[in-house]
Parts: sequence; C-alpha cells; structure tokens
Amino acid sequence: MSSLLLNQEEYIKKAEELVNSIGIPSQPQIVLDINKEINKPDADLRKIADIVSRDVAMSAKLLKIANSPFFGLREEVDSIQRALSLLGLKNFNNIILASSLRETLDAQNPVLEKFWNHSMATALISLHIAKKVIYPSVDQAYIAGLFHDCGIPFILKKFPGYSEIADYAMSIVGTEALSGRTKSIIGIEDERYNTHHCAVGYLVAKSWRLSNPVCQSIWYHHYVNIDTHNDASTRRLTAILLLADYISSYLVYLAGGKCPVDTEQEWAKIHKKVLFELSLTVENIKDLREDFTEKLYG
Ligand SMILES: [Fe+2]
Ligand SMILES: [Fe+2]
Repeated sequence: MSSLLLNQEEYIKKAEELVNSIGIPSQPQIVLDINKEINKPDADLRKIADIVSRDVAMSAKLLKIANSPFFGLREEVDSIQRALSLLGLKNFNNIILASSLRETLDAQNPVLEKFWNHSMATALISLHIAKKVIYPSVDQAYIAGLFHDCGIPFILKKFPGYSEIADYAMSIVGTEALSGRTKSIIGIEDERYNTHHCAVGYLVAKSWRLSNPVCQSIWYHHYVNIDTHNDASTRRLTAILLLADYISSYLVYLAGGKCPVDTEQEWAKIHKKVLFELSLTVENIKDLREDFTEKLYG
C-alpha cells in the first residue's frame, strides 16, 4: 500500500471537503453529561441511570447492546439500573458510546447493519486482546475498535454506490493487496472519491474528541508498517486494532460473508510487526479466533 495515501495533511484536506458537505454530527449531549458524572470521584450510579433512562431511544439501544451475545450477560436485563450494576461503570460507559454512535449513524440499511455488527465485534475483540497483552487502557482499545471504520457510513451517505466495495473497507487488508497484486481498498476509494474511509474516520474521531492514539490508530488501520509510529501507545493500539480487525473479518466470513480472509499463517507472514509488537505467536491468533468463534457461535 502506498504510504502516499497516508499523507495526513493532504488527506485531511480532501476528507474535510467530503465531511463538510454532509456534516459530522457532534458527540450527543447525553454522552457528555454521563461522562461528566462518571468522572466524578463520587460518581452517583442512580443519577447516571436516571440520565440514560430519560432518553428512551438511547435506553432501548443500550439494552439491546447489553443483551447481545458480545457482552455474555447471564440474564436478560430490562432496566438501565440493572444493566449498570451487572456491567460495571466502565462497560456501561462503553455501551453508552456505542449506542450514541449507532444513534448518530442511524444504521437502517443492510450495509450499515453489517458495518455496525463488524464495529461491535471489533470493539469487543480489541478489548479482549488489550487485556491479554496488558495494554494499559483497555477502554481505548474498545473505542478504537468501535470507531475504526466509522468513515464508511459517511462515504456511503454521499456516494450510495460505495456499498459495492464497503465490505473490503470493513475487512482486513488481503495478502494480495499487500503484496501489490491487487489494489488496496484505500487506493480504490481514493481513485473513486478522492478520499478514503481511514481519513474520514479520523476526522469523525477528532470531532468526537477521542484520544490521539485512538484517532491515529483509525488513520492507520489498513497499514501494516506499525513500526513507523514513534508514539508507543499508537503503535501498540494500532497493532491491537489490526489483529482485532482480522479476527472480526474471520467471524463475518464464517457466518457466510464474502470478505476474503487469509489463513492465520498467511496473515502472520505479512503482519510480523503486529505480532512482534504484541509478543504473540500464530498459535495465539488461532486460539483467539477459536475463543471468539465459540463465544459468538458456540
Ligand atoms: Fe477499514
Ligand atoms: Fe474493519
């Protein structure tokens, strides 16, 4: 993949043109209110549950996500207060962010539904990998997974024909593209739309005031040369995201999706730097993949 496509300054300008023409929704007030309450040293759980309960649409989305197999709760929750006590404050906060992203994007068409499932799966897988490799901010990993492809709905809004190639933007970069035998997805996007989903996603993440490593990992999530990042958090987070995107794409493939997925040996050959950064082996990847297959389809 040409690193020219990752020239941030140039691509931020191009991506800005696109997002300015459709507008980036800002982070909803409810998320800001909840964050403010959660960050207080004496956070009041009842007050947090009250803020969420007042927003009926948000509450419904939150309960749907909390009851999805991703969170593996033993009982079905039907109240915000119960969800909060079962999930804990951090998980609850993560679900708030996920619900508000979903609300903002209003995933009503089949491509967006797919995008949503992929984002949720990648978020949870990133969180799990972050715990395994002892990344200090597991929530950052969750947020990076949740937002990494959020440029897709924006390009789709502007160019409905994008749905033909959106599957490839969601999935991992195939070996063929990485070895230069086929074009990378961001190269194709650039040719057609004069921008790519990594740049648009980066701008959305910036406008939602996500942390710098999260924004950077979104920008670089189709780029395997992670050793070029000077900042250790960005390098590690991008490695987590690349691996989570692979496992998540594998799950889609397993469910009958058409995303091309390499065998773990092929993937590992090209992603040596990712494995090195996370001190993981091909066997570890296989185990992670099986863990998640079991979790979601077992
Ligand atoms: Fe992507
Ligand atoms: Fe993805």
